[in-house]
Amino acid sequence: MYYSDETVEEVIARNDIVDVISQYVRLTRKGSNYFGLCPFHNEKTGSFSVTPSKQMYYCFGCHNGGNVITFIQKYENMTFGEAVRVLADRAGIRLPESNDRAAMEREDRRAELLSVNREAGKYYYAQLRNKAGAQGLAYFRKRGLTDETMQRFGLGFARSSTDETYRYLKGKGFSDEVLRQSGLFSFSESHGMRDKFWNRVIFPIMDTGQRIIGFGGRVMGDGEPKYLNSPETLVFDKSRNLYGLNIAKSSKAKNIIICEGYMDVIALHQAGFDQAVASLGTAFTSGHANLIARYARENVSRDEMTRYKEILLCYDSDGAGVDAAKRALTILREAGLRAKVISMSPYKDPDEFIKELGAEEFQKRIDDAENGFMYEIRQLEGEYDLKDPSGKSSFIKDAASRILRFDDPVERDSYIGLISYKYDVSASSLGEVIRKLAVSGTQIRPAPSPMPTRNDRSGISEAAKLPQCRLLSWICDKPQIYGAVRKFITADDFADPLYRKVAGILFEQIEHGTPDPADIISHFTDEEEQRRIAEAFHQSIGELGSINMQETALRDLMMNVKQLSLTRDDREENDFDVIIRIRKEMEELRTAKLDIAGT
Ligand code: UTP
Ligand code: MN
Repeated sequence: MYYSDETVEEVIARNDIVDVISQYVRLTRKGSNYFGLCPFHNEKTGSFSVTPSKQMYYCFGCHNGGNVITFIQKYENMTFGEAVRVLADRAGIRLPESNDRAAMEREDRRAELLSVNREAGKYYYAQLRNKAGAQGLAYFRKRGLTDETMQRFGLGFARSSTDETYRYLKGKGFSDEVLRQSGLFSFSESHGMRDKFWNRVIFPIMDTGQRIIGFGGRVMGDGEPKYLNSPETLVFDKSRNLYGLNIAKSSKAKNIIICEGYMDVIALHQAGFDQAVASLGTAFTSGHANLIARYARENVSRDEMTRYKEILLCYDSDGAGVDAAKRALTILREAGLRAKVISMSPYKDPDEFIKELGAEEFQKRIDDAENGFMYEIRQLEGEYDLKDPSGKSSFIKDAASRILRFDDPVERDSYIGLISYKYDVSASSLGEVIRKLAVSGTQIRPAPSPMPTRNDRSGISEAAKLPQCRLLSWICDKPQIYGAVRKFITADDFADPLYRKVAGILFEQIEHGTPDPADIISHFTDEEEQRRIAEAFHQSIGELGSINMQETALRDLMMNVKQLSLTRDDREENDFDVIIRIRKEMEELRTAKLDIAGT
């Protein structure tokens, strides 16, 4: 953390979360909470809640949650430090300069890395247009790029040499330390600093503020690796940037096209599709989905439902491309976004397609894009023998379980219609299969997705999660019960390491005053952890009626938490003493009088 705890606390305290979020989301009061349409996923009913008493928000639909700083970070795609500064500004708080020297040094370092990149970009750019770059220029021309396109993308060339770029930048006055951090050079004791990029055409990678944050370089002809990319640095986060978004963000097109490669983006832009972007030599991540959600948003009016541009996946036609598309569809769906898939067959990728068939044919492919869900189902066909009745039945069950992942009944009905039509089963029997699956509880929630996503990264089961969360949330809502709780439960009793830490901080706060969940969140920097904490504090306890019933419920909850703590992964086999102690405490708890009257 680059700001002192006091500073962060003050920033949270002086920016009321309801005021801040109201600037972005239309909120309606319901009881002691506020509700609205979630800005982080596409929905028609408001599952996004803001709790003034806890100064936290949480979406029951997409499980995003956190405090006022988290909200600004997510919504504005900012770092923690940037969000703190925006909110400090908003509240008229002067950030103490001496206190955030680390932050300022970091900012300076970032600025310096950006200027290394800018200089390097200029250097590569000039090389391409020099004698030395003739080979690179010929390569781009052979691939059909016009001079205007090369200029628009700032394309360049790194010539064959061992340390030419290094010496050039050294001459510009950059220190070895900064040059090393730029990721553009490799260092060894024997050879000193060497250019990583040589004999490659260069693709500068820009963020949406048009600053060069990294580079990709392609070998001339064959060679390994085909593309070399800058490593992640202080200014280059691959999962939060998309190649071409700096231009695509102001495209007038009604859709946004996601493809695989640098050359695909460039070929599409040159053919007039300036809405194309690509992930940067990495798989599509939820960070990319958030970025897309921000830039694909068509209206930000507070009254209307959020509308998004159509998202089109245009991946390679090979097996890897199909897998990548399926993964991206899952990630987008979890971010509340829907996508369609464009087929490039019989060509390999959009670059080749455009070269062979031209822009008009590509536009036809856009018009014919396949619904992403139907695409997934079509890919599923291959795993079953549809000619065999039992094979077909299994296939339909599989499809049914996927339909269940959609919360919206209208959307579900449409897919029931489409699938029954396409695969020749009656809508009523498909509906029946879905109902059965729903009742038996299998597969109601998304199946484990191929990549860790924010919904299931914690690896903690629902059964283990709920009691721990409920107890935390209850204590936070009614700190009066803490007196009764502390006799039996310590933070150490929480089986999950994250809840354990949260309990530690929460109990500490209560011992010294009042609970402050928004402040607890600021102790954690990991987005996933912040989300889980917000989720925990939004567990409702429900109406419990009489004091007796409350005591029974609290006792059950504490027993549950204790029981879970017996199964803590990090307990040694021979932690017998601990286990015996916990068993004894549970014995006492079973019969003890919990005095929570008056709460
Ligand atoms: P492809 O191998 O599909 O290349 O990689 P391409 O875009 O068709 O390249 P050309 O047409 O032969 O020039 C797609 C993307 O995957 C990343 C790059 O971002 C590339 O644009 N990639 C590929 C790498 O990062 N490293 C590699 O070695 C290969
Ligand atoms: Mn290609």
